[in-house]
Amino acid sequence: MKALVLAGGSGTRLRPITHTSAKQLVPVANKPVLFYGLEAIAEAGVREVGIVVGETAAEIKEVVGDGSAFGLEVTYIHQEAPKGLAHAVLISREYLGDDDFVMYLGDNFIIGGITELVTRFRSDRPAAQIMLTKVSDPSAFGIAELDVEGRVVGLEEKPENPKSDLALVGVYLFSPAVHEAVTRLKPSWRNELEITDAIQWLLDHGHRVESSLIDGYWKDTGNVTDMLEVNRLVLESVEPSVLGTVDETSELIGRVVIEPGVEVTGSRIIGPVIVGAGSQVRDSYIGPYTAVAGDCQVIDSEIEYSIVLRGASIRGVRRIEASLIGREVEVTPAPHVPKAHRLILGDHSKVQISQ
Ligand code: DAU
Repeated sequence: MKALVLAGGSGTRLRPITHTSAKQLVPVANKPVLFYGLEAIAEAGVREVGIVVGETAAEIKEVVGDGSAFGLEVTYIHQEAPKGLAHAVLISREYLGDDDFVMYLGDNFIIGGITELVTRFRSDRPAAQIMLTKVSDPSAFGIAELDVEGRVVGLEEKPENPKSDLALVGVYLFSPAVHEAVTRLKPSWRNELEITDAIQWLLDHGHRVESSLIDGYWKDTGNVTDMLEVNRLVLESVEPSVLGTVDETSELIGRVVIEPGVEVTGSRIIGPVIVGAGSQVRDSYIGPYTAVAGDCQVIDSEIEYSIVLRGASIRGVRRIEASLIGREVEVTPAPHVPKAHRLILGDHSKVQISQ
């Protein structure tokens, strides 16, 4: 079995929160979301991984390299434009050969990995196996309709009037039967070759499509609340370790990860917290569920339940909560504004001044 990881797409989609142009590199607990996918693939016993890359190929290649850090053999497959998930399968035909494969969308995050799903597929071998999860905004996803026995009967990509609230999660398992399906598709209303349509084609042509319901799913939608929540979930299970220096006036409580080169002085850190390599934490409080990336400075400040990206500096600010602070951002207190009124009032004026 092989894996096909989709890390293409255009780098120009505007995202409010991070300025990495590859959305697969958005960090969760200081690690790009794509890395969790690659780790899950390795854990499921798959070694050969084709990564589909587009405009942001250089960024992806720089961090993933040849995949050996993950125990994987990575081959990059260039997609000239983001023409759809089924198009990505189409151009990977030669790489995939006649192997079964797991297709993993690089901006998706499955809590608990994919080992069980892969094991089930290996023993059952339907033409396609999909994962579904309940969502509150079905129009933003591919949606599956099930019959009373729970069998998939229809699929629709981002329907205006969804027939269910069961969204397709970005992990699909396929037998080589999918290759014929992707050659039969027409571009959708958004001008993409949809994998949802390819699975519908398999259904329509008598192939078996299995599904399973999962929870513990997250996808980067640019929503800060969701991002803080997935960061919290992941931090909850980090292994505490102190590889940087912590002076004797500082206190670390609970699951705290202090990466190499970090200097903590005169501070209190209550986990789960991760502080990335080369950061400085001085005379500060860092509270639960905070991920501070590398090369940051947190000085004379208080912060909790937040994500701070690489190179940010926070000085003299208390208290920051439920926040996402982008790369190289500087946060400082506003200069003190004196509470005084300066008035030049003519004769007989009447003024009301709010206190
Ligand atoms: O995340 C789950 C959803 O993913 C499913 O519910 C939908 O059925 C499925 O179509 C897909 O929807 P999106 O519109 O959210 O997919 P997006 O364009 O964000 O692409 C998903 C990943 O695949 C992302 O990492 C970029 C990559 N990609 C995308 C396209 C269109 C490629 O590598 N090549 C492409 O051509």
